Amino acid sequence: MFCKSLFVLSVLASVQVYAQVTVQLYRNTISDLIQNAHSHPAKIDTTERVNGLNFNLLAYWYYSTISVGSNKQKLNVSFATEDESIYIPTGGDKNVTTFNPSESSSFIRTTTKIPNVHCNVSMYGNDTVQIGNLSAASQPLALYEVGTCMNILNGSVGLGFTVENQLPTFVDNLFLQGKIKKQVVGLHLNRDWKSHFAGEISIGHLDTRLVDDNIKYIKATPVVPYWSVTLNIVKFNDVLIATNVEAVLSSYLAFILLPNDNFRTVSKLMKGSILVDGFLLIDKSSVDKLPALEITVSENKYTLSPKDYVDTVHDFNGLNLILLGSTEDSKWQIGGSFLGKYYMELDYQNRRIGFSELKSSGGPSRSGLFVPLLLITALINVM
Ligand SMILES: *[C@@H]1O[C@H](CO)[C@@H](O)[C@H](O)[C@H]1NC(C)=O
Ligand SMILES: *[C@@H]1O[C@H](CO)[C@@H](O)[C@H](O)[C@H]1NC(C)=O
Ligand SMILES: *[C@@H]1O[C@H](CO)[C@@H](O)[C@H](O)[C@H]1NC(C)=O
Ligand SMILES: *[C@@H]1O[C@H](CO)[C@@H](O)[C@H](O)[C@H]1NC(C)=O
Ligand SMILES: *[C@@H]1O[C@H](CO)[C@@H](O)[C@H](O)[C@H]1NC(C)=O
Ligand SMILES: *[C@@H]1O[C@H](CO)[C@@H](O)[C@H](O)[C@H]1NC(C)=O
Repeated sequence: MFCKSLFVLSVLASVQVYAQVTVQLYRNTISDLIQNAHSHPAKIDTTERVNGLNFNLLAYWYYSTISVGSNKQKLNVSFATEDESIYIPTGGDKNVTTFNPSESSSFIRTTTKIPNVHCNVSMYGNDTVQIGNLSAASQPLALYEVGTCMNILNGSVGLGFTVENQLPTFVDNLFLQGKIKKQVVGLHLNRDWKSHFAGEISIGHLDTRLVDDNIKYIKATPVVPYWSVTLNIVKFNDVLIATNVEAVLSSYLAFILLPNDNFRTVSKLMKGSILVDGFLLIDKSSVDKLPALEITVSENKYTLSPKDYVDTVHDFNGLNLILLGSTEDSKWQIGGSFLGKYYMELDYQNRRIGFSELKSSGGPSRSGLFVPLLLITALINVM
């Protein structure tokens, strides 16, 4: 009897501490990337495209700081809804901050290959990965020598799904290790380039300063390890472009990429635009005359005005860049020009995506723009 109540007491007293984290993102802008490349978009030549400028220009480079290893080596990485692996740069290039596994006592080299890697991986290993106060031990990592991975420059954390019976993703690991209570990620990629607030990522919760309960969900494509949806109807004004196409959500991209056929049709609708080596540029004064993009997914309709899919902030000799591009793939890729308009909830357990209008687009609060980049809340859950 005594023992039993002691047992009950001790169970009551044991608490499970979950954490949740919100980390502000940084971003490079398209003009930074163009300046870095010393090139005007109208002068992008084939050689530079081969050198990877094409991809750099397509990337938004939203990033934030994680630390890896026992000695918490800091790296700025991007977060990719279109991928599930963690790619970590290693090696000697002084231009990129890299991870040195020999300095981390918790690093364990492994032989298990991570499926679907999109990199020339030089080594696999497990180590601690931390973002804010959330840390996952034994996180499987794909290390690559800087410069050998065409698509990923400074490292990337995949926000996709664990492939069945394979090594866990970062979000899964946090959940499996009891660090987060809900397998959920809130993501906002602010595409208002005038704002100091570049966006943020929350893990284990949503940021109620940016989003309320009014989220509308759509089902994500089952089985695949990345986030994708079926677009039922895609129209530009009254012109039907596609029905029931698969679209991968690409938090890594600034653009919406369309399969070649669709892109050809759409570029004709971009009246007054100039096609320069795959990019559409348009006179600033003609932006308002472009058609609205309307995407229907089940009963939800998402409408992008031309200002949403044209970068009207950066001006290249009076020209604006249209954030629509083409891909060889048969799948559409929905990047920042769409995603950045909304607050996005990735709900892993129900495999659904929520898009919601933002409570405010300028960031959590005025003071929040300049003060803490990091906001941590520990939830005490009495079991
Ligand atoms: C990450 O990026 C921020 C903003 O650009 C910078 O202040 C910080 O030094 C970077 N950290 C690392 C480890 O590169
Ligand atoms: C490193 O940066 C310097 C100066 O920006 C540049 O000249 C050099 O080519 C870069 N190295 C690599 C390997 O990219
Ligand atoms: C990569 O990281 C280096 C610093 O380690 C930084 O100077 C550079 O801007 C980053 N590149 C991108 C594309 O974020
Ligand atoms: C979270 O991290 C900060 C430093 O970034 C530290 O001051 C704080 O004590 C940590 N909180 C918890 C609950 O671990
Ligand atoms: C590496 O981590 C994975 C997942 O956390 C685990 O299953 C595996 O056993 C680890 N491997 C080693 C060699 O520790
Ligand atoms: C792997 O390296 C080869 C040779 O350097 C390069 O051609 C290829 O594009 C790289 N693959 C990726 C995915 O970056």
